[in-house]
Amino acid sequence: MTQFGDMRGWIDALRKEGELHQIDAEVDWDCELGTITRRAFGNGDGPALLFSNIKDYNKNTTRCSSMFTGGLSNYSRVAMMFGLPKNASITELVKAARKAYASRVPPVTVKTGPVKENIVKGDDINLYDFPVPKWHRFDGGRYINTMQGSVTRDPVSGRMNVGIYRGMVGKKDTIPVLLWRPQNWGQDMQKYSDKHQEMPVAFVYGWEPSLPFAASSPIPPDVSEYDVMGAIRGAPVELVDCETVPLQVPATAEIVIEGWISNDPATFEMEGPFGEYTGYFGGDQAPKHKVRVTCITHRNNPIMRGTLEGTMPKMLNENSIMSSVQRAALAWNILERSGVPGVTDVHCPPANNGTTLIIQLRQTYRGQAKQAAAAIWGSNAAHLRYKHIWAVDDDIDIHDYGALDWAFAYRCNAAEDDIVFYPGTFGSALDPSTRLKYRNTKLYGTGKWCRVLIDCTVNLDFEPEENYGGERYPPMVRPEKQDWDLVDKRWKEYGFKD
Ligand SMILES: Cc1cc2nc3c(=O)[nH]c(=O)nc-3n(C[C@H](O)[C@H](O)[C@H](O)COP(=O)(O)O)c2cc1C
Repeated sequence: MTQFGDMRGWIDALRKEGELHQIDAEVDWDCELGTITRRAFGNGDGPALLFSNIKDYNKNTTRCSSMFTGGLSNYSRVAMMFGLPKNASITELVKAARKAYASRVPPVTVKTGPVKENIVKGDDINLYDFPVPKWHRFDGGRYINTMQGSVTRDPVSGRMNVGIYRGMVGKKDTIPVLLWRPQNWGQDMQKYSDKHQEMPVAFVYGWEPSLPFAASSPIPPDVSEYDVMGAIRGAPVELVDCETVPLQVPATAEIVIEGWISNDPATFEMEGPFGEYTGYFGGDQAPKHKVRVTCITHRNNPIMRGTLEGTMPKMLNENSIMSSVQRAALAWNILERSGVPGVTDVHCPPANNGTTLIIQLRQTYRGQAKQAAAAIWGSNAAHLRYKHIWAVDDDIDIHDYGALDWAFAYRCNAAEDDIVFYPGTFGSALDPSTRLKYRNTKLYGTGKWCRVLIDCTVNLDFEPEENYGGERYPPMVRPEKQDWDLVDKRWKEYGFKD
């Protein structure tokens, strides 16, 4: 557990560890910045990036001249966030995240902080003062909300939620957003609109890494992400009151945008498409909820925070790396809470952002994999993820695709109910493998998936066989220890190197 104090402290820590690359050459916010980021992120092995010279934002009069991205686009930096050694294994990161999700360190309120160094209201509000990139050429606009924390409040319980939900610069004081009903701010919105009220919202850009990490995790709706951020960093988050909305934000944040959202379609503004996590442009250009900005507060010389979405093979990013830790940790906690026994490891490979979940089990009774899948699919965390679940025995390395492939080949048989379909469930409205008409969120609130369990565990419905020495499966051809040891001893004699 480590406290960095703010995003500047995090950037300093990254610089010291050789995890930061600063670009002082002039870079255009219009596609060039996004393309550099795409190339530099690589396959989850690139540095974090600080752009310090952005076209149109490099004059003395500029309100904001720099942009930070990639703070969590590799596993080493996720390890640093948790205070672990940089070479910690993915399973160790998943275990650290599990612990944080199950712990709570509530925030404290402070009177003021650096985020109040500048307070901008009324006609002075201009979102174009910030170097917001057009990340991809076919994005519907300049996406300002990519790695921010969107703070809302449940009007009944008072709980503050912090989530990452996309939004683009509309007019100089509006941010049209993607607001899905099953997400926590969608549920909050419903409660305000039942009372015919606008929903207050505050967007936080740039703080410690625990903010985007917790904000993009499906924490249970009754829990505030601020409590989980406190658990990740091992100390309460210090919050200040907003100026024009009844919400609180970290006192040392770089930039905060406050505003209100109406559920009245007459107020909607065009939003989308955006280069989405699936690697495709998603979420059509259509009228969507918009935030009416009422105030911006920011530090002196603020640093904008954003990120590049869109995962493709060998092109990973912050969402894919974070998801692979978050979604595995959450799934493991759900399995434990639901009483599924024998879970020994859980993994989400980064290329699919948690769409595929792999569970490693020590089975003791029939149907354990199906019990596990039912527990996962029944949870709110399954909304955008866990479309496909693999279950394997504990002798299969779930981080090795070759091992999974072998188990799929010889321990999975559709004729034995090892492939299970769960049709008609909620799902991601951005997944292009579902026909567009079934992803109409205005009509249905969410997307539609047929989920699949691929059970690659040895089938405990099989009878023990005399031919197999009383086991359900034949012995494996791996050499016996005595044979292996003999060959090991004589290996060099055969002319092999070590
Ligand atoms: C970079 C990034 C962008 C995201 N964009 C969206 C989005 O546009 N809409 C959305 O509903 N979820 C988006 N997510 C996923 C949500 O942040 C995630 O589902 C989170 O659990 C939402 O918070 P909640 O559980 O409090 O609703 C994004 C995540 C990341 C990391």
